[in-house]
Amino acid sequence: MSFDFDAWLSTQKTRVESLLDQRLNRVATHAPARLVEAMRYSLMAGGKRLRPILVLAFADAAARATQGGGEPANDAAVAVEMIHTYSLIHDDLPAMDDDDLRRGRPTNHKVYGEAMAILAGDALLTDALASVAGGPGGRPEVRAALTHELAYAAGARGMVGGQVLDIAEDRPAELDYLVRLHRMKTGALLKAACRMGAIAGGASTEQLAAADRFGDSIGLAFQIADDVLDVTASAETMGKPTGADADAGRHTFPAVVGLERSRALAKEHAQAAVSAAQAFETTPGALAALAVYSVERSN
Ligand code: IPE
Ligand code: IPE
Ligand code: MG
Ligand code: MG
Ligand code: MG
Repeated sequence: MSFDFDAWLSTQKTRVESLLDQRLNRVATHAPARLVEAMRYSLMAGGKRLRPILVLAFADAAARATQGGGEPANDAAVAVEMIHTYSLIHDDLPAMDDDDLRRGRPTNHKVYGEAMAILAGDALLTDALASVAGGPGGRPEVRAALTHELAYAAGARGMVGGQVLDIAEDRPAELDYLVRLHRMKTGALLKAACRMGAIAGGASTEQLAAADRFGDSIGLAFQIADDVLDVTASAETMGKPTGADADAGRHTFPAVVGLERSRALAKEHAQAAVSAAQAFETTPGALAALAVYSVERSN
């Protein structure tokens, strides 16, 4: 029987939702209620949960002893989604993309005000690192490696650096620049998710290199698909405004190389990820299906 990806994905999503809820409850015990409410509002608003699902899938695939990556993998899964959610809250702020809709709801600052939205983002980022570095269980050197992966990917050489390239006044409308920008703003966190799963699952050196190649390809492919969906999908299916990139004069893949070539490039990179998955799966399974999903998704 072939692998039932939809059923698997929905089980993984439920697993992630429950981990997120648990970890947020931990933070809530000693934090101001209004702050926790603002954090919860964006974190528990749905979303595809692709990054934490990648962490768990790589941990499961790499695990030598069948029980996955244990608590470090769970903490890394939650942490990458917290950091992703913080990046979305800040991305939507008036000083950045100035958007009103996210995950099908009014954006964080529309509900809680700009100051609280900034602080909720700050707290999601910082508490994510606290839990991956210091959560219970797991060897200290594994936790240190996971923390480094995540912090590096989120910082100036990763997501934040990419956001800066995206808004740079003098950004050139060139393919090379766009590839670098996409690898940083979106690719870095997706790649970190794959690498963290592999590390938590005790991957071999070869497997870690394959997780890296997979993450690099899927990361680029995913943001090309996001650019394409911004042109082709409705705000209703996306749960966020569409057509916004063109309005903002963004240099996106469709703007620079056209829709057809963008779709072809996304597919090509997704195929590279499917090949990398062979280091973990003898026949195409969850990882190969996730690679395809990253570009064939409808939202
Ligand atoms: C949106 O990410 C921002 C990008 C990096 C393209 P997702 O498309 O993963 O958003 P959610 O988490 O499903 O809401
Ligand atoms: C943002 O890219 C990626 C982040 C690092 C948050 P976009 O600005 O294209 O993301 P959307 O389209 O608003 O989700
Ligand atoms: Mg943006
Ligand atoms: Mg945006
Ligand atoms: Mg976008």
